[in-house]
Amino acid sequence: MARIAVVGSINMDLVTTVGRRPEAGETVTGDGFALVPGGKGSNQAIAARRAGAEVEFVGAVGGDVFADALRKVLREAGVGVSRLREVEGPSGIATIVVDRNGENTIIVVAGANGRMTELTAADLDTIAAADVLMCQLEIPIPTVLAAARQARAHGTTVVLNPSPVQELPDELWAEIDVAVVNEGEAARLASALTGVPHVITTRGGAGASYRGPDGVELSHRGIRVQVVDTTGAGDTFTGALAAHWHEGPDTALAWACTAGALATTKLGASASIPESAEVERVLAESGRDSRV
Ligand code: RIB
Repeated sequence: MARIAVVGSINMDLVTTVGRRPEAGETVTGDGFALVPGGKGSNQAIAARRAGAEVEFVGAVGGDVFADALRKVLREAGVGVSRLREVEGPSGIATIVVDRNGENTIIVVAGANGRMTELTAADLDTIAAADVLMCQLEIPIPTVLAAARQARAHGTTVVLNPSPVQELPDELWAEIDVAVVNEGEAARLASALTGVPHVITTRGGAGASYRGPDGVELSHRGIRVQVVDTTGAGDTFTGALAAHWHEGPDTALAWACTAGALATTKLGASASIPESAEVERVLAESGRDSRV
C-alpha cells in the first residue's frame, strides 16, 4: 500500500446546478444548490485513499462554520488529519456552477489555503516518511516548493497537478517527478513539461496519455459514462494515479482513467469519488486492458 502525503487545499464548494450558465449581466433561475466539501488537495487525498493508499493531508481550514465539515469529510474517508491546522479567518471556498451538460465554471477564494505559508517540522516529517508527495497550486507556491524539496531530499516521489494553471519557477519544476495536466495545461506549460520525467495528459472523455523517460509513450481510452458533473474528475484521476503509481504507469493509467470517468457520473467533487471496489468492477467488466 502506497503512503501518500498531500500538501494542498481544502474548500467548501457552493454548487449551483442550472440548465444554462448565464451570460455577463444576465440572471437565470437555477435548479438546485448544495454545499459539498472540495478543494483540489482534499479531493485528491480522498481519491488516493479510496484507491487504496494510506494518506495524510497537510493543509488548513479557517475558524468558521465550514471548518468542521471539511475536517469531517477527510476523517470519514480515512485520510489522516493530524497535520490539518486551523488558522484565523475564513476557510477556502469555491463557487461552482454546473450546467445540464455537466460542464462547470469555478471561482475559488483561497481563504485559509492562502495562509498555508509555512510547513512545520511535523509536516516535513510526514513528507519525508511518504512514498509519494502530491501537490496542486491552490496554496502558496513557496510552500509547494518547500514540500517538493523535502520530498526530493528523502526519496519521496513528487507528483504535481499544476492547477489552477500558472507560470512556476524553474526551481520547482526541477523537483517534479510526475506531472498530471489536462490538455489546456499541457499547451500552456509545454516548455516546462519537457524537463519533467513523467507527464500524464488527461483528455476528458477520450482518456489519457503518458510520456515517460526515453520517449516511452502510452495511451488509455476512457470508458463511456453518463456525465452529470465533471467537477473533481481530474482530482479523482490524479489521486488514483498516485495510489497506483508503484504498479507502473500502465496500470496506474488504467485505474486513473476509470476512477476519473466514474467521478463524472455524480454531482459534487468529494461526493463523486468512487470506492476502489467500484473501479475494480468496471475494470473487470471493460477488460483491464484499455490501452490504445
Ligand atoms: O478540481 C475541483 C475543485 O476545484 C473543486 O472542488 C473546488 O474546490 C476547486 O478547488
